Formats: sequence, structure tokens, C-alpha cells
Amino acid sequence: MGDLGNYFGQAFFGVANRESFAKSVKGVFDSISANWRAGIFTGDNLITYGKNLSFQIDKPFMAAIAAHATTDVEKSIIWRTAVLAWAARNGLRREGDFVECGCYRGISARIICDTINFNASGRAFYLYDLFEYPEGSNHTRMPDMGPKLFDEVVERFSSIPKAHVIKGSIPEMLHVRSPEKIAFLHIDMNSVAPEIGALEVLFERVSPGGVIVLDDYGYMPYRAQRDAEWRWFAERGYDVIELPTSQGLVIK
Ligand SMILES: C[S@@+](CC[C@H](N)C(=O)[O-])C[C@H]1O[C@@H](n2cnc3c(N)ncnc32)[C@H](O)[C@@H]1O
Repeated sequence: MGDLGNYFGQAFFGVANRESFAKSVKGVFDSISANWRAGIFTGDNLITYGKNLSFQIDKPFMAAIAAHATTDVEKSIIWRTAVLAWAARNGLRREGDFVECGCYRGISARIICDTINFNASGRAFYLYDLFEYPEGSNHTRMPDMGPKLFDEVVERFSSIPKAHVIKGSIPEMLHVRSPEKIAFLHIDMNSVAPEIGALEVLFERVSPGGVIVLDDYGYMPYRAQRDAEWRWFAERGYDVIELPTSQGLVIK
């Protein structure tokens, strides 16, 4: 990882035969002319070459990744996380607090906090999640969900006094506790109803120029989410750009 400008993440979703997949990817890179055989990125269903991979020269970001991204998936989604860091830095020039709907282990948010020295910003970071899996629901069941996760996330943010870790269902919890003005909004719940519910409550509070990042907007299994969100924004005169990282991006 990080060798000669290349970045080799290991996590790909939907691969049936990892051995032949790896061999084929190697075949792709072997067939590139030598002067382009750099700037290689693998992971998170992206295979690229000849890219600057500029996030690798972002020292605070890479230090935060080294400190907090421990699993193959967390390391492989680095390009997505770099997009979040960009949106968060943009947020520092806008009025309001930071919000993540669906924080799970809090890894992306913690990386953001370190990258932008969040404590110095004077803002609050609202982190929402169910933390426990509601039996029988149609939510994506994340492996670490369970009775201990809330406390683990609270502990992860113990050095960020203005991080508020909030347990409960979106959109209901947003009516109980949420900021009036928002500078950065990340929506990542892998589920149509709460994602649209979050937009219904929070979008009008996003400051002009604030960025909204819709995770998984470009991933095929979440097509229904993409369609609902595209429609929701189109009805309000906004367009969503699908990034190669599979995030949807809107600038208010
Ligand atoms: C993919 S994970 C989030 C990953 C996290 N944003 C990150 O970058 O590491 C999706 C999370 O959404 C949460 N979630 C799903 N539906 C929810 C709801 N209605 N209210 C609150 N959280 C929800 C799940 O509990 C799960 O932890």
C-alpha cells in the first residue's frame, strides 16, 4: 500500500472467484505500457492506472487513515474517504455543524475529525446510528452491530468533546436532536426510507455551498436508493453526480 504512488486495497464486492479475479487484474496491469504502469489503484470495485492518487500526498489524511482504518474494507474505501475529507474541508468554509446519518463504527467520521483538526473548528459533529440490528428488518446487517457498538463509538470520539453520538432510528431521532445549520452532511444508511427521511428533515438546513455526500449512490445493489434520491433532488432543481467511488455528490 502506498508503494511508488500505487495503492492496493484488497476489498472488492461481488467477486465469485478471488484467485482468477486477482490473476485477471494482474493481466490488465501487465498489458499497460511501462510508462503508464503506475498510479495504480485497486479496491472498492475500482481498478485504475495512470492516476495521480493525490490523496496519498495529503499528510493529515494519510496519518488519519493509518491511525483509524484497520479492516480491509476501511483501507480499500480510501478514495471514498478522501471525498468525505474534501467535503468536510469545504464544510469548514460554510456555516453550521457536521452530520453523519449512519456512522456505524465511526471510522470515516473519526478520519475526517483528525484530517481537518475538527476540535479547532468549534463545531459539533452529530453521529447517528441504530448500532443494534433490528431483528427481522430489511436493513443491511453490518458485522459489528450489537449491544457493545454504541459504547465503542462513544469511546472512539472521547477526545472530540463536541461529537454527539446518538442512538436511534432516523428520521425519528432527527426530531429529537439535530443541528439547526449544517455545513457537511453524509448520508450512509443503505436504505431508501431513512435516507429520504433524512433529506426531508435536514436538506433545508444545509448552508449554501455545503456538500451532501450520498454513500452507495452508484452501487448497483442500491439502485432503488439511487433512483429515489435522484428523483428527490430533481424535484427540487438539483442534480446528483455519481462519482467513480460510488458516492453521489450534491452541492447546495
Ligand atoms: C454502511 S453503515 C455506515 C458506515 C459509516 N458511514 C462509515 O463510513 O464507516 C450503515 C449504517 O446505517 C445504520 N442505519 C441503517 N438504518 C438506519 C436508521 N433508520 N437510522 C439510523 N441508522 C441507520 C446501520 O445501523 C449501519 O450502521
